Amino acid sequence: MDFEPVKLHEMPKGSGRATFIRRLLTNPATAAPAELYDTRVFSPKFAAGKLVYVADAAHLETIFVERPDDFPKGRIDQRVLRPIFNDGLLLAEGGDWRWKRRLTAPVFSPAAMKRFLPDIVAPFAATANAFLAAGDRPIDASGAMKSATLQVIDRLLFGGEREIDPDAIMTHVEDYLAPTSWMVAYALFGVPQAMPFPGQKRQSRAKIGARDMLDHFVKKRRAGPREADDLTNRLLAASDPETGRGLSDTDMVDMLLTLQSAGHETSANALTWALYLLTRMPAVQERLAAEVDAVTAGEPVTHDHMPRLLAVRAFIEETMRLYPPAPSLSRMARKAENLSGVAVEAGAAVLVPVHLIHRHPDYWERPDVFDLDRFLRPGRPPRTVYMPFGAGPKICVGAQLALSEMTAGLATLLQAVRFEPATGGDPRPLHRVTLRPAGDLMVMAEPRGGRARPDNSVTTPRAA
Ligand code: HEM
Repeated sequence: MDFEPVKLHEMPKGSGRATFIRRLLTNPATAAPAELYDTRVFSPKFAAGKLVYVADAAHLETIFVERPDDFPKGRIDQRVLRPIFNDGLLLAEGGDWRWKRRLTAPVFSPAAMKRFLPDIVAPFAATANAFLAAGDRPIDASGAMKSATLQVIDRLLFGGEREIDPDAIMTHVEDYLAPTSWMVAYALFGVPQAMPFPGQKRQSRAKIGARDMLDHFVKKRRAGPREADDLTNRLLAASDPETGRGLSDTDMVDMLLTLQSAGHETSANALTWALYLLTRMPAVQERLAAEVDAVTAGEPVTHDHMPRLLAVRAFIEETMRLYPPAPSLSRMARKAENLSGVAVEAGAAVLVPVHLIHRHPDYWERPDVFDLDRFLRPGRPPRTVYMPFGAGPKICVGAQLALSEMTAGLATLLQAVRFEPATGGDPRPLHRVTLRPAGDLMVMAEPRGGRARPDNSVTTPRAA
């Protein structure tokens, strides 16, 4: 039977400014107007030409792929994220961005992922064992996924060494991001920077805390021997072939903070939604577990297994269609545009409701239904119809890492654990920079019987 999992609702047609602001402050992705199902480009009357929602694949191709320079990151990203991430890859522009992207991309290449796979699998093997150790007690799946993905990014960026406390940095980043709905609303309505908002003092302390910790770490690393094969050391050693310029300490802090934040919460949320879906669809869960068994025969997941974990990968992709971890992207129109007859003023905010595009009936059959075979059938959806990682030159630099991590991670969990729902209804999707279940998502973990390892424990792979 078709299963329609919980959905993020859009703003009702004809809603005015007050509804928009309320939604923006409480759950910003739900401020995407339902008119987009009729017109695909829509500018609400109260901000005509200044605030334009675009859910049209052809226009998105123009914005993200063909003319990205005419649609740079807008004032929302700049105002909300720049204070903490500064000129890290996410917000850097022009030549500065190109150089930083060139330095960073090789670290996320398929060859690098092959080498890092044991480091990716190990935290999930430990998580599976922790799930089983909980016995009859419900487990907080969101917390467990956050912890596993944080360990992965810790190993990749910092070599997993105890010179730095990634948990403490992430706590600061979370405190910083907590009141960002206010900043988004202020940015959209041109409220001056000086206007205070709730949580501002704590936010400011969090920003300083996170950046100070990383600054201390970078200085220590720069001064000491650099043996670990991790991203910090690669970035410290890198220089621009054209100018010979290396990354300053501030550049390093920007980059590390950006990579740690962008690369952890997103995958954690996608995996949390994946566990929610598994508990609601036992037959799908068994199909995935059977694939994992057939491919790995109970051994730790390796790089060679990855191309054969087709159903697990398709499951992850369908999960991110229904629950894109980055549910809303924003750009600014550098000059006046006309999109499907909608006048867009120079300087207008262009909002891209990825979650709505991923369920738009013009592009998807039975859009609200979970369909495991959607990504197993031949032919992929166009790149601006399915865009969990964005599109064009600024597409997520960590996409391959994230897909490997989520596929290998989920496969590792399914080797040992059968997930069942804990009491309580469906989680409510909440947009806080990323799309997460509001509150903790609790699940029950049952050991899988009759598997290769009689005690159901998962072997931790050895690093290459
Ligand atoms: C499920 C996991 C992930 C999702 C859904 C995701 C999503 C995205 C999206 C949508 C963008 C484009 C933003 C825009 O165009 O405005 C982006 C950019 C970026 N992501 Fe990811 N991401 C994920 C994992 C990661 C990982 C693992 C890393 C690194 C460790 C990472 C690092 C970045 C960086 C640095 C950028 C900026 C790239 C640039 O502007 O050149 N992301 N991500």
